[in-house]
Amino acid sequence: PFDSVQALSATLTTSDHIPKRYIRPEAESEPVIIPGDDEEDIPVIDFHKLLDPELSDAESSKLDLASQNWGFFQLINHGVPEEVIQRMISVVEEFFKLPLDEKMLFKQPPGQLEGYGQLFLFSEEQKLDWADILFFYTSPLHLRKVGLWPTNPSTFRDAFDEYSMEVKKLANCLLGFLAKNLGLDPTEMTGMLENGAQFVRINCCPPCPEDKKVLGVSPHSDSSFLTLLLQVNDVQGLQIRRNDKWLPVKPLPGAFVANIADAFEILSNGKYKSIEHRVVTNTEKERFSIAAFHGPNTNATVGPHPELVLKGEPLYKSIDYESFMKLRFETKLDGKSFLGRMKL
Ligand code: SIN
Ligand code: FE2
Repeated sequence: PFDSVQALSATLTTSDHIPKRYIRPEAESEPVIIPGDDEEDIPVIDFHKLLDPELSDAESSKLDLASQNWGFFQLINHGVPEEVIQRMISVVEEFFKLPLDEKMLFKQPPGQLEGYGQLFLFSEEQKLDWADILFFYTSPLHLRKVGLWPTNPSTFRDAFDEYSMEVKKLANCLLGFLAKNLGLDPTEMTGMLENGAQFVRINCCPPCPEDKKVLGVSPHSDSSFLTLLLQVNDVQGLQIRRNDKWLPVKPLPGAFVANIADAFEILSNGKYKSIEHRVVTNTEKERFSIAAFHGPNTNATVGPHPELVLKGEPLYKSIDYESFMKLRFETKLDGKSFLGRMKL
């Protein structure tokens, strides 16, 4: 593997072939829904309406349907201040613009996931994603390894802290609505989320001269409860699995893309869906995305909620969240195979 796909990309001309380990035949062979087909777009949920006593019920029903039928939705009027988002975007862009040797000061320590580098490298044969990442635990506070967080630009840590805290508040509130829709006791959800785990991953997908032959991020489903994703500067790339095809998710300016993740599909005993997705590249534009993953407290049990298990038939195993995440990070990113292993 290369230290940096960004650096590799910068050396390539349009006629260069890219290294074999990045070539993914499946990237081209699976059908993509061309926008403009009479295909529905992913649902849009208005967070402000969820909070409005007069509009909340109707918007909650939309949220419930989106969680059952799509697993993905755009979240607008989310209340995360624009300045907080802009400060985060600026430090991310500035960091990735640094010369490689400066970025390498924050490289993932051997055997660790946190830091600057690549995700999920398991073997010499494994195909590689056309992306560099920055990955950090952000909550609970005692799990933060702030020493690994970049100090260049000098505002990086503050911006990262501020962004992750704001987004976590939003995620917790949204998870409250999701729990309510499932008929669960809201205080129980609040309890699970107390000292809940959050990690943030920044994906930097440089342009690629053979853009159709590589994948920015391999197909996978997310593992925690809920992901809130920002597609920076509206550069498209995210695609979700829908009716055995890939559906591009058009960036909606100012919105977060929200998705149900594996542990929440499990909690709902399959009622809500954790949908497979991937990222494709293009020949011209570098693409950044900022994904914040939210799960319960590491001591919480991840398993079908007893009240949602009809006729005594849980569809998934129960396991504590810490072990769940440990298993997840030991598994190659490979579609929904991890969730498959949790099925009974
Ligand atoms: C991811 O699913 O990990 C990244 C999604 C994106 O960059 O749009
Ligand atoms: Fe993801």
